[in-house]
Amino acid sequence: MTEMKSVTDAPAVKAPVLPDAQTVTDVKHWTDSLFSFKVSRPASLRFRSGEFVMIGLLGDNGKPLLRAYSIASPSWDEELEFYSIKVQNGPLTSKLQHIKPGDQIILRPKPVGTLVHDALLPGKRLWFFATGTGFAPFASLLREPQTYEDYDEVVITHTCREVAELEYGRQLIESIKQDEMLAELIGEGFADKIRYYPTTTREESPKMGRITDLLTDGTVFKDLGIDPINPETDRGMVCGSLAFNKDITEILEGFGLEEGANSDPKQFVVEKAFVG
Ligand SMILES: Cc1cc2nc3c(=O)[nH]c(=O)nc-3n(C[C@H](O)[C@H](O)[C@H](O)COP(=O)(O)OP(=O)(O)OC[C@H]3O[C@@H](n4cnc5c(N)ncnc54)[C@H](O)[C@@H]3O)c2cc1C
Ligand SMILES: NC(=O)c1ccc[n+]([C@@H]2O[C@H](COP(=O)([O-])OP(=O)(O)OC[C@H]3O[C@@H](n4cnc5c(N)ncnc54)[C@H](OP(=O)(O)O)[C@@H]3O)[C@@H](O)[C@H]2O)c1
Repeated sequence: MTEMKSVTDAPAVKAPVLPDAQTVTDVKHWTDSLFSFKVSRPASLRFRSGEFVMIGLLGDNGKPLLRAYSIASPSWDEELEFYSIKVQNGPLTSKLQHIKPGDQIILRPKPVGTLVHDALLPGKRLWFFATGTGFAPFASLLREPQTYEDYDEVVITHTCREVAELEYGRQLIESIKQDEMLAELIGEGFADKIRYYPTTTREESPKMGRITDLLTDGTVFKDLGIDPINPETDRGMVCGSLAFNKDITEILEGFGLEEGANSDPKQFVVEKAFVG
């Protein structure tokens, strides 16, 4: 005779306590001011690698306190990953930095953004220019098969103040080498297909300086042994502070590239990594 299971043996199903609740499955602290975390993915959520969503917690007034966050995981992943700053007096991140696996966050399932393949005209070499947490959308796009199907080469530049702030990106690039599906797509010659160019501005490291200066004086092209940016072949995606985005925009325009959008694909696209 089949044994009857008592109700108390059933697996505990946590009732959502927040609107649009998702459960935190993993948290990793990288520095005093940076952490990454994973949450469950709503079954109905479809997004394009590189897009952002609104996430948050309930504020002290009982209302959702939401902020824009790039999804750092690729569109095919079962979970959603985020890479976050910790602003010590920031309304959201002063609290969000304390989340643990099993906790819940709010995730509004309406992805949007300009850092998507659809917003660029076809090209041969794709540049990702990031500062700080601006690496997040590229963590998604670097794990997106379309990136390697559409382009012969990808160059990812990441500029931070200190060496430890580069570690999330460095490990992400390493993890791509270990990923069977991506390794097959990238094929032989990983170093020629994905060129990783990390730089620091305040702490000593093998390559120092703002990427803007290193582009302007040609150091990047010399270091990587590649041709300068050319509007016929090169495409770009930019994610950093307002000042960074403005400076890179001028440089890319100087190389003859034009800024595009979802509705008007051109040679490069830009998105803010934060406001203010
Ligand atoms: C399109 C978009 C995508 C974003 N994606 C991300 C992301 O993937 N990861 C992420 O950490 N943040 C991201 N942000 C910033 C995010 O929305 C919040 O500003 C951040 O989480 C801090 O929230 P807060 O309430 O603690 O402080 P806020 O009141 O929002 O910010 C306080 C101050 O902290 C500084 N600041 C805020 N965010 C950052 C940051 N990311 N890096 C450096 N300084 C910052 C700014 O000076 C800002 O004025 C994004 C912003 C936009 C507009
Ligand atoms: N006190 C601290 O130690 C500390 C640490 C982290 C963050 N914060 C605060 O957090 C906020 C954001 O800091 P963040 O470091 O994440 O972002 P950030 O200030 O935008 O700097 C990130 C990196 O981008 C570079 N950069 C900034 N503007 C640029 C431009 N116009 N062109 C080219 N490169 C540019 C910076 O170089 P430069 O170093 O040359 O500016 C730095 O290497 C700031 O308001 C800051 O006050 C403070």
